[in-house]
Amino acid sequence: MKRQKVLVTGGAGFIGGNFVQHMVKKYPNYDVYNLDFLTYAGDLTKHSEIEKEDNYFFVKADIANREEIMSLFEKEKFDYVIHFAAESHVDRSITEPEIFIRTNVLGTQVLLDAAKEYAVTKFVHVSTDEVYGELDFDPNTFFTEETPLEPNSPYSASKASSDLLVRAYHETFGLPVNITRCSNNYGPYHFPEKLIPLTISRVLNEQTVPVYGDGKNIRDWLHVLDHCKAIDLVMHDGVNGEVYNVGGHNERTNLEVVKTIISTLEKSEDLIEFVTDRLGHDKRYAIDPTKLEKLGWKPEFNFETGIAQTIQWYLDNKEWWEQIISGEYQNYFDKQYTLK
Ligand code: NAD
Ligand code: DAU
Repeated sequence: MKRQKVLVTGGAGFIGGNFVQHMVKKYPNYDVYNLDFLTYAGDLTKHSEIEKEDNYFFVKADIANREEIMSLFEKEKFDYVIHFAAESHVDRSITEPEIFIRTNVLGTQVLLDAAKEYAVTKFVHVSTDEVYGELDFDPNTFFTEETPLEPNSPYSASKASSDLLVRAYHETFGLPVNITRCSNNYGPYHFPEKLIPLTISRVLNEQTVPVYGDGKNIRDWLHVLDHCKAIDLVMHDGVNGEVYNVGGHNERTNLEVVKTIISTLEKSEDLIEFVTDRLGHDKRYAIDPTKLEKLGWKPEFNFETGIAQTIQWYLDNKEWWEQIISGEYQNYFDKQYTLK
């Protein structure tokens, strides 16, 4: 079999970064190209271990820059495109929606055009359960692949738009695509603007933890390595044109998540600070992963084992997240707190 060329967009970010490391280590016969624009969320220090591997390559590029993307595809003739690159933080999409449309919608369309023009074997679009909107608190209701798209935030609306474009390129041009829709991820290299790494880093620094509203909103947590395995499976075995939901039935209220972290770190719950709720805050997400399980996927972590591993990782890698929350990012952090 000829060497396969895999383009991973957003491979300097949280999930894309874990996926790049997974692929470089697992498939020495694949050349893995990490394409990233290195926005505030992109960081290459996480790849210091794999940087020296012969099958790892980095390309700095903007997915919305058509000329740049087309000439890269012409030169490299990729077999696979695994598309993670996006603006990913809901709170930012509420204050600055425009960049979400540019990156998540226009950027995806440029990649689809390139994938069509240079006839890739598979285009996997990494999407989110947020495109389905919200569920109520009835524990027997789940998002399935048939749930209608009802996105509520500018972020989820931009992701739903990109999902529809991916679908259209399959229906109109026969592009071999899959869409994955995963629940909330957590694990190593999670950017500390998101609930779990924000809580861990703030608790370790003895700072208060902002819990939006009453803390009863529910998210369905999946360890990032289980998400990476799901995408590996879908890129190889997914049926063209199909959507696969990814989730491991680990629903927790935000307050439960925060309290678990505080008690594992043996700190006081006095650190919890209830703050103004997020605008349009989705109540509950919960995934039915039956279709993906039928394809052969089974998660390795449950929430208890996954959060313990993650907290330990943040304890062992303090220099990584300290470097992230200092400097430029600190301005954003301060701005968010002034807004509340
Ligand atoms: P992230 O914000 O950590 O990383 C995004 C990466 O994309 C960064 O490295 C950034 O530099 C890069 N990027 C941004 N704009 C770019 C551009 N114009 N050109 C090239 N690169 C650009 O995001 P994440 O949490 O790792 O999420 C990755 C993907 O997974 C996103 O598409 C997101 O919608 C999806 N997703 C995330 C979660 C989650 O819980 N984090 C769950 C389900 C799906
Ligand atoms: O469901 C998948 C989605 O999960 C992904 O598509 C997004 O890219 C990812 O960011 C994540 O979105 P959420 O909005 O669910 O994640 P976040 O970590 O921002 O928030 C999780 C929950 O915690 C949510 O109910 C809001 C709440 N929250 C968040 C922050 C940052 C707080 O209570 N306090 C906070 O400071």
